[in-house]
Amino acid sequence: MLQRLLITRRIYPEALARLEPAFEVVHNQDTDIPFTPEQLAAHLARSDYLFSTVADRLDASVLGAASSLRLVAQGAVGINNIDLAHCAAHGIAVTNTPGVLDETTADFAWALMMATARRIPESERAVRDGQWKGWAFDQFAGVDIHGATLGILGMGRIGSAIARRAQGFGMEVLFHNRTPSDSALARYVGKADLLARADFVIVVVPYTPQTHHLIRAEDLAQMKSSACLINIARGGVVDDAALVAALASGRIRAAGLDVFEHEPALHPGFLELQNVVLTPHIASSSRATRLAMQNLAIDNLLAHRAGAPLKTPVALPGSTLEHKTSV
Ligand code: DGY
Repeated sequence: MLQRLLITRRIYPEALARLEPAFEVVHNQDTDIPFTPEQLAAHLARSDYLFSTVADRLDASVLGAASSLRLVAQGAVGINNIDLAHCAAHGIAVTNTPGVLDETTADFAWALMMATARRIPESERAVRDGQWKGWAFDQFAGVDIHGATLGILGMGRIGSAIARRAQGFGMEVLFHNRTPSDSALARYVGKADLLARADFVIVVVPYTPQTHHLIRAEDLAQMKSSACLINIARGGVVDDAALVAALASGRIRAAGLDVFEHEPALHPGFLELQNVVLTPHIASSSRATRLAMQNLAIDNLLAHRAGAPLKTPVALPGSTLEHKTSV
């Protein structure tokens, strides 16, 4: 008998085609409207496998109903939406998609940094709105990226890919991790030093209790008033209320944000500000990479189904597996 697999979002047809022969698939293929927690719990009560996304809140109240669930195959590298302790206690394996999205996400960090530094969305809006009356010396004057100092908070695979790109722009690159380390691409400094010296601060850490509000009002106060903050990590790593205040008062120059504390809802104030570039959690969203993420999740589902080793297992609390959740 086929095992039941719940897929919570639309996936590419070629990805779905790999799953349909192996599972009885229940999916949300016709809509991107997420299941409510109640719907998710009801579906999970009848599921053996789950193909989840970062936007599915898999807490104990939802997972509690999932008595036959064997594997959560997350179609993302981040797993902060999953109650890993519950999974460990109930013998549910978890996998994610490290590696396949690093370069695309690093490209996007640069796109956001450039859009923010050179005020591309703001100036494009002005052109569309018919406000462009002619050329002027100081029109939408931005800040230079080349030759500037880049500070990377979180030098994992994606941070390193961002740092590699910075070489071509002649930037000085600083980084900070919780544990000091060496890098051929950048110089390790303390967090306060990085905040005080960087012209661009990029946040690339996973969201954990330790990184909650890693950037709050005190941290923004340490940045240069000419600096830009870029967040491609997770909402919650930056205190959005503090950031709105810092942008509104000119405490920092600008921000480029792909993730938000309560996404898809935005903290009040962001939409009124011109010095913030807002994108809808799309850093890994090239077609090739999103398909690669889906395929890696599927590789894990098929491996589990066949009794083979999982390709990219997540270390659960109490397990001895090497932790594979960093970005
Ligand atoms: C991830 O892989 O964690 C990304 O945030 C998904 O978009």
